[in-house]
Amino acid sequence: MAHEVKGVIASAKGAPVSVTTVVVPDPGPGEALVAIQACGVCHTDLHYREGGIGEDFPYLLGHEAAGVVEAVGPDVTGLSAGDFVILNWRAVCGQCRACLRGRPWYCFATHNATQKMTLTDGTPLSPALGIGAFAEKTLVAAGQCTKVNPAIKPEVAGLLGCGVMAGLGAALNTAGVTRGDSVAVIGCGGVGDAAILGSSLAGARKIIAVDVDDRKLGWARQFGATDTVNSASADPVEAIRGLTDGNGADVVIEAVGRPETYRQAFYARDLAGTVVLVGVPTPQMQLELPLLDVFGRGGTLKSSWYGDCLPTRDFPMLVDLHLQGRLPLEKFVSETISLDDIEEAFTKMQRGEVLRSVVVL
Ligand SMILES: NC(=O)c1ccc[n+]([C@@H]2O[C@H](COP(=O)([O-])OP(=O)(O)OC[C@H]3O[C@@H](n4cnc5c(N)ncnc54)[C@H](O)[C@@H]3O)[C@@H](O)[C@H]2O)c1
Ligand SMILES: [Zn+2]
Repeated sequence: MAHEVKGVIASAKGAPVSVTTVVVPDPGPGEALVAIQACGVCHTDLHYREGGIGEDFPYLLGHEAAGVVEAVGPDVTGLSAGDFVILNWRAVCGQCRACLRGRPWYCFATHNATQKMTLTDGTPLSPALGIGAFAEKTLVAAGQCTKVNPAIKPEVAGLLGCGVMAGLGAALNTAGVTRGDSVAVIGCGGVGDAAILGSSLAGARKIIAVDVDDRKLGWARQFGATDTVNSASADPVEAIRGLTDGNGADVVIEAVGRPETYRQAFYARDLAGTVVLVGVPTPQMQLELPLLDVFGRGGTLKSSWYGDCLPTRDFPMLVDLHLQGRLPLEKFVSETISLDDIEEAFTKMQRGEVLRSVVVL
């Protein structure tokens, strides 16, 4: 039986999103039908709407979600109706080259999407990051559901499904921030602030938040930033060096996704330091750097997809830390909204008024 539910669609490049009826089939083999309880509005949803990720319109947006499993396909084990889950866009397959080499965070089956959801006229929908959770119900691969302690609020839990995990993991998993490190984070939206929180959790001694918006810098302090730099009025490279005895930071995390901020990150790190790119660039963006500087400054240049997380390892652990009062995930939730308010939430995100607007269903 197919289900007709409300969902939020981006139908053309740059066009405002709309709420429409989405047809969601019952789960087939290897699939799960999930009733969405909450879904955060991530900058990546806006990238989809702007055509920055692909041209496979119409997209069913939303990918940072938690909900309750309503039904599972015939062969699914370890997951059943009633389970409270966080959805992920990395259902590790266990069979690809990366998995077999013991590096499952590079699993190639990242988009496990079943493209079976449609509009009422049969037009197939492309679910954002293989999820499509700005909808009352969605159909995903069973491996995209990670069971966690249901004591956590859905609007908080869902954030671990994308941006907050991406930021926490960029610091904890990709950069391997450790006790005593100096860290600079460029771009203090939900992702950057999560990188600040992760650095703080790991014991970084100095955490420098960089943004062009003073309001964002104020919030960054609440997540553990020890110093702030407004890069609209000060040169961030000079400022970061000034705050680190002239050396630059051990780790610089770029959470904007632009060539100019990447260049700042590259030059703001200490000799042989680490740069981690978490921000998602558009296909048009180019980076030019003197090759001699890449060589001469040594160190490590990395990018971080989804915080190099393993959902089964990381989600239940982070939920436990939150429930113990050691990970204040609720601070990321600026407002809770309905499916009808997503276009307005994009505007608020662009104006810097929110860290995360979270749709609650
Ligand atoms: N790598 C991943 O797995 C992953 C996952 C989720 C999101 N992302 C990406 O991370 C980026 C951030 O996402 P978000 O949800 O936090 O977005 P956001 O819009 O909430 O935050 C971006 C922040 O960057 C700041 N900013 C903009 N231009 C700047 C500049 N020139 N210098 C300094 N700061 C500047 C903004 O003021 C804002 O605070 C996006 O590109 C998003 O697509 C990556
Ligand atoms: Zn996201």
